[in-house]
Amino acid sequence: MRMMGKGGISILPAAVAKIRNRDVDYPYRQDSDFYYLTGFAEPESVAVLVPGRAEGEFLMFVRDKDPEREVWDGRRAGLDEAVTKYGADDSFPITDIDDILPGIIESCERVYYSMGTRPDFDGRLMSWVNTLRAQGRTGTHTPDEFIALDHLLHDLRLYKSRAEISAMRKAAKIAVAAHKRAMSVCEPGKHEYEIEAEFAFEFRRNGVHPSYQPIVGSGANACVLHYNDNNDRLEDGDLLLVDAGCEFDYYASDVTRTYPINGRFNEEQRAIYDIVLEAQDAALECVVPGSMWHEPHDAAVRAIARGLKRLGLIKGTLANLIRDGAYRKFFMHRTGHWLGMDVHDVGDYKVSDQWRVLEPGMVLTVEPGIYIGENQSKLAKRWRGIGIRIEDDVLVTRDGHEVLTKDLPREPDQVEALVGSALN
Ligand code: GLY
Ligand code: MN
Ligand code: MN
Repeated sequence: MRMMGKGGISILPAAVAKIRNRDVDYPYRQDSDFYYLTGFAEPESVAVLVPGRAEGEFLMFVRDKDPEREVWDGRRAGLDEAVTKYGADDSFPITDIDDILPGIIESCERVYYSMGTRPDFDGRLMSWVNTLRAQGRTGTHTPDEFIALDHLLHDLRLYKSRAEISAMRKAAKIAVAAHKRAMSVCEPGKHEYEIEAEFAFEFRRNGVHPSYQPIVGSGANACVLHYNDNNDRLEDGDLLLVDAGCEFDYYASDVTRTYPINGRFNEEQRAIYDIVLEAQDAALECVVPGSMWHEPHDAAVRAIARGLKRLGLIKGTLANLIRDGAYRKFFMHRTGHWLGMDVHDVGDYKVSDQWRVLEPGMVLTVEPGIYIGENQSKLAKRWRGIGIRIEDDVLVTRDGHEVLTKDLPREPDQVEALVGSALN
């Protein structure tokens, strides 16, 4: 509210419940911006912030209590709890929003709102403003500035507080336990979905859900970046790439490990694995306050280009290979992204055309990879179908960084020792 100043108003709608079919809904997940400011998990709600408003600065429109509906859909907080439990200064029934909100907007100069992500709500906001405009002749005032709320709010979300970091530690810890569990029961003949099931078990027994659809890709499936069919059989001699994380109290982890299904890397797999590990180490070294956003990626690119050249998989001078992007055939994504309430979290990567400078409290993933698809017909067959990514979650600290997922082994010998260790 201090950032908006007097005369500002911000309006945030809750996420919409989505129907899958008939009486079945998709699992409901509150909008991250809305939850960040309110901690309120119910649909059909709107939060309004009006700095300096004498009758109350934080308003909530929520569903009224309704004993009959609550028998079917579960408990509602209702108007009273919006105030007593969620800290609103005042609360109103969501059904009255058309009558109440325009009158509050009227007293404001600037509307802070995330335009364009919710066309239905964009339309309603415009209709409230148009109602005021139509009354303009009778002396009603209309705000004359619309400002994207994202810049203010997403900048706040980028710097994690102590409480947020503790939720992220928990999300990391549960994901680490799940990955260990999955690795320890991995063996040829099982199926990708059986590995996925280990995550479902470990997540649910810790009270959390996946933060995204787990990727369990064996063999060449690992080279399909968003693979999540997870139906194939785990073959002796192949690698398994597992990218899976969970959400604890609305904060995500996002973790990838790649390991030999039979517990032993072959020579080519090990050679590629070593490069990805070198790239991750090189990138991690750059995750310190004062580094710029692109530096970890550039370091990973150098390590990968150098490694692929060493193996003869790309040819040329290192400088040319990097300049011309020859490595991109095998490393086609960036080395990381912000991590927080959303897996690909909010926050600008550039500020006035300059890459952002890393600061304490920011959390990002570091996830280099090399993917040699079956379609790389110019390469010897022994290289094809190798897809490797190593992904960890990293907090920028005052004097460097902390890898939140560091308890999950990445050194190849340790990885080999863990694979299948719970069997027999
Ligand atoms: N799991 C999505 C990602 O790694 O970005
Ligand atoms: Mn991931
Ligand atoms: Mn990621």
